[in-house]
Amino acid sequence: MANATAGTVSLNLPGMHAGARDMVRLGMVRSRVCCYRARRQGLVMCAALSGNTNEDAVLGDVVSKPRRFPRVVGMGSKLIGCGSAVPKLEITNDDLSKIVETSDEWISVRTGIRKRRVLTGEESVQGLAIDAGKKALEMAQVAPEEVDIVVLCTSTPNDLFGSGSQVSTAIGCKNAWAFDATAACSGFLVGLITATGFIKGGCAQNVLVIGADCLSRYVDWTDRGTCILFGDAAGAVLVQATAAEEDGFLGFDIHSDGQGYRHLNAKSCGVEEVLSSTNGSLNFPPKKPAFSFIQMNGKEVFRFAVRCVPQSIEASLEEAGLTSSDINWLLLHQANWRIIDAVATRLHIPSEKIISNLANYGNTSAASIPLALDEAVRCGQVKGGDIIAASGFGAGLTWGSAIMRWQ
Ligand code: ACO
Repeated sequence: MANATAGTVSLNLPGMHAGARDMVRLGMVRSRVCCYRARRQGLVMCAALSGNTNEDAVLGDVVSKPRRFPRVVGMGSKLIGCGSAVPKLEITNDDLSKIVETSDEWISVRTGIRKRRVLTGEESVQGLAIDAGKKALEMAQVAPEEVDIVVLCTSTPNDLFGSGSQVSTAIGCKNAWAFDATAACSGFLVGLITATGFIKGGCAQNVLVIGADCLSRYVDWTDRGTCILFGDAAGAVLVQATAAEEDGFLGFDIHSDGQGYRHLNAKSCGVEEVLSSTNGSLNFPPKKPAFSFIQMNGKEVFRFAVRCVPQSIEASLEEAGLTSSDINWLLLHQANWRIIDAVATRLHIPSEKIISNLANYGNTSAASIPLALDEAVRCGQVKGGDIIAASGFGAGLTWGSAIMRWQ
């Protein structure tokens, strides 16, 4: 059993060496050594507290909370396949300048985006997710029947109740159970960390994590402040169980803070109508439900990202027992080149170590990290054994990071 309060941790597990117990109690907060010693004792135990003080954890109005529990894991997990899919229709900045008052220069200078893909006709986010998932399984050489769990990370499913089951069935994962994970642009990180939790907890051997979104459907195409940013896509990875010593998922850090919700949202309309009353009588039955267009305070989201993302990556690196110089690739959610550049600068990571395909696809929400990873792997940029620092951030507000080894 474990508990943690304000930086002190006690951990007691069956079969745990007394020395390890003391070590955890005394030194868990900064515990690269602790992690290593525990591994040698056959117990893979990763440091969980980031060691933040309350003072340095407060980031503007977004609070980064230290983790409360140590992570104890029995086995490792690794990424062994990836895939992606994008819609056919490409919309350039010049195309956009025909529907809103903007220009290629403004968009590319402020964001780094030059074009994006948008769903049309018979295409659907579900269809993209299926394509991406199939490609990831093909690369991993894992048959669909061998998949135990499918996590569909999306905020824009075809069905309000989720599309994971349909995607899983269409891919042929007949022995898997599936669910949707909704966390906007952090969605893929949430799915990846969830998958790893199931694997390291011994509940799954193969987990297919798919990030897929079609924010083009929720953008106000007359609002030049938001419509220039987003595109549609899907990306997927296959996460597989492996021996603890071969663990390729080296550290992670994840947060959410509802106080920042006001800066980025797409609210459900109709809820207020049910709850509100007119002249003392309930407004019932409610009208047909709908969602508002994406509302965003770009400056606040920008500020939040450049503050929280480096801190999260630093926390993940600390858990992994690495420093930023050990990273081969920085792979951030593809939202804005200025955010990517600012994070890399803060972490002292040179630009040649940055993976980015933002210029071609814009912000594809939960798809952006696996889409960029897939392109980087398939063109030979990312090679087996490379260490990747990935980070997602977005609505919620939510943000997180993971340090992982490719294959
Ligand atoms: N073309 C031309 N002019 C524009 C455009 C446009 N597309 N958009 C805004 N402008 C104008 C504004 O009207 C404003 O004009 P004014 O000075 O006359 O009032 C001026 O340009 C500056 O506007 P700002 O909004 O202050 O521009 P800013 O430098 O903040 O850039 C941007 C806006 C690109 C959106 C930036 O704030 C940003 O990228 N923020 C982060 C967004 C982000 O990463 N979102 C992630 C979402 S993740 C998820 O979960 C969905």
